[in-house]
Amino acid sequence: MALYQATTSAPVNIAVIKYWGKRDTKLILPTNSSLSVTLDQDDLKATTSSQTDPSFTKDRLWLNGVEEEIKPGSRLATCFEEMRRLRRKVEQSQGEPAISQWFIHVASFNNFPTAAGLASSAAGFAALVSSIAALYKLPNSPSELSLIARQGSGSACRSLFGGFVAWQAGTAADGLDSYAIEVAPREHWPEISAVICVVSDHKKGTSSTAGMQRTVETSTLLQHRIKEVVPQRMTNITKAIKDRDFDTFARITMADSNSFHAVALDTEPPIFYMNDVSRAIVNLIVEYNRASTAAGGPLRAAYTYDAGPNAVIYALKEHIPEIVNLVSHYFPQAESARSPLGAEPLPAGFNA
Ligand code: PMV
Repeated sequence: MALYQATTSAPVNIAVIKYWGKRDTKLILPTNSSLSVTLDQDDLKATTSSQTDPSFTKDRLWLNGVEEEIKPGSRLATCFEEMRRLRRKVEQSQGEPAISQWFIHVASFNNFPTAAGLASSAAGFAALVSSIAALYKLPNSPSELSLIARQGSGSACRSLFGGFVAWQAGTAADGLDSYAIEVAPREHWPEISAVICVVSDHKKGTSSTAGMQRTVETSTLLQHRIKEVVPQRMTNITKAIKDRDFDTFARITMADSNSFHAVALDTEPPIFYMNDVSRAIVNLIVEYNRASTAAGGPLRAAYTYDAGPNAVIYALKEHIPEIVNLVSHYFPQAESARSPLGAEPLPAGFNA
């Protein structure tokens, strides 16, 4: 029988309402819902090819050409297992060939530095799941596949959709209601764009897994965030996206980035993801917005930071050249690099 193969890719997504905290660490169930924007296909992405053949002797995975071990019981092993389970259903119900019993080889490439703290695991696990789904010709929807990508890396579930995506936390103990849904497709708001400022491409100090666990165990502020803050923000930012209301989108995005980093600081011992350059970029965006609001205008830019010092700046396309110039002016060491969401050249490389 012939070898089966498929190649797909998944872009990075950047959250505007942050996921931070697990209520179930094995199933990767979050303590709160989150919402993100998926970068365009031409930008930062993982491209993954998978093959299956009766001659293979074990499951294997190569990341940027280097083989990674698939440890039993690991998140990777869970994703392989879950995809096989879905394939077996198709084989049983539709009489498709029993290829689920063969081993799989997977090769994945990122078109950006893996260690740069740019949500590489989100794109990686989403591309892994979508490529095996294509290999197995699975009929499942992106939301159904997101249940599996979630078990690789929580934020990966959101990269199975383009555009504006919510990950509903859900309440079920088995996690079956904890999946991603499309809030709006990319075409709904093509004017929105992003600039990524790579402040440091060093691997982050505290991994998101370790950081979240510590926050859940020690932060009292997290409880406030989960109960009182995030639910309202999810509703309000969804409306802002539907209305294409950049001012509200920007206000909520910056507030939620601040709230996440406050919760990291409220962790014992505290976690500092942002550094002096990150904070200088915050000040720059605040001043840039002040110039607009002082003249009675709306906010023009929104910063957001994940578990690292790199800034992502959301803005409408018409303001991107101005923002790129500003950042390049105040951070002359910035190099020009690729732009996400179809933006102008992006300033990068503030390597301290
Ligand atoms: O999916 P993880 O374990 O890489 O966690 C991602 C956490 C943040 O990037 C900080 C927030 C988010 O929602 O993407």
